[in-house]
Amino acid sequence: MAAASALMSKRAPVAIESVPPVGAPAPPVREPVPEGTGPLDQTPVHQDAEDVRGNVAKTVGRRSRTTRLLLGSAGLLAVALSAVLLTRWLVTFGFMQDFLSTYPGETELPGGAEPGFPAWVQWQHFFNFFLIVLIIRSGLQVRRETRPPGYWTPKKSSGNGKISLTLWFHLALDILWLLNGLVFVVLIFATGHWMRLVPTTWEVLPNALSALIQYISLDWPTENGWVNYNSLQMLAYFVTIFIAAPLAAVSGARMSGLWPREAATLNRIYPVEWARAVHFPVMLYFIAFIIGHVALVFATGALRNLNHIYGGQDAVNWVGFGIFFASLLLVVGAWIAARPVVLAPIAGIFGRVSSR
Ligand code: HEM
Repeated sequence: MAAASALMSKRAPVAIESVPPVGAPAPPVREPVPEGTGPLDQTPVHQDAEDVRGNVAKTVGRRSRTTRLLLGSAGLLAVALSAVLLTRWLVTFGFMQDFLSTYPGETELPGGAEPGFPAWVQWQHFFNFFLIVLIIRSGLQVRRETRPPGYWTPKKSSGNGKISLTLWFHLALDILWLLNGLVFVVLIFATGHWMRLVPTTWEVLPNALSALIQYISLDWPTENGWVNYNSLQMLAYFVTIFIAAPLAAVSGARMSGLWPREAATLNRIYPVEWARAVHFPVMLYFIAFIIGHVALVFATGALRNLNHIYGGQDAVNWVGFGIFFASLLLVVGAWIAARPVVLAPIAGIFGRVSSR
């Protein structure tokens, strides 16, 4: 009871450890008390005491999380700083200087690659960003959701293929994203823009390493995105377009209702567990890519870079930034609007929406 009233009092009692004098026998070690058998647990505890106990646990939990976060950030900063110093020291050696001059960080483009960003690249890049933000958000919602806000059933189905409204939204966005990607791939090969995104020589590998060294040593490679990306950038775009996006699509399709469940051999060759093991890490890749990509866009001449992909011009003025800002407002608007009251009528055009 005394313990309970101590917990109920406004100020939590502070345990002061008495230090035994030197040479005194060690105090008896207290056996850990199994949960539910301690004096506190046997006493009928007042609700307030439980609240206080909950609050204390929450505060301790929050504090240890903050401590872990601080320690983690300090560790990360220390690793980053060491990497910068080590790389700066390494590049003072002759063999590194030779490497950097042999591989400056970009490869020559095959003849015929046009500089710049035509209007279709600008549009497709914006639509891709718009969709991927909502895809990631709805994908995470599908994972977390225990009680969906509604359900959607395809029109021609007799009750089969019923999915949550959130999953319907995720899949609908996926279809638009894949269509956008397909049109992009067709257009880059039809126009020659592919030469800026697809490596055509193995030299791209040492050049990407060279660009990475230049980034880490904080002596960044020359920016010339209007004409030619550096090799690290080219590889990152190539992996995103030709590896990550198809992996997301193939693993997503395997988990969706579109996949033929009866195809026993196919399902044995490609089990759904594989798809699950791939889909989430691919999403993490996209998040990491977007963070790194946007950070570099802003750190390497924001106005000029934004003018490239949003304004279609190689100039330093606020036009591209203005269009980028308007596009961000659209993304935020869609993020806010994407709730059941708005989604249900749209989903209703393509199928049956029900509350159960
Ligand atoms: C706020 C979001 C974004 C901003 C501000 C942004 C900005 C840019 C800029 C400025 C460029 C041109 C780079 C240069 O001139 O050197 C570019 C190119 C590119 N970005 Fe983004 N980006 C964003 C989101 C994304 C997302 C979500 C993806 C893919 C998941 C993506 C994929 C690409 C690709 C593949 C290119 C190369 C385009 C081409 O040459 O056709 N970006 N981006």
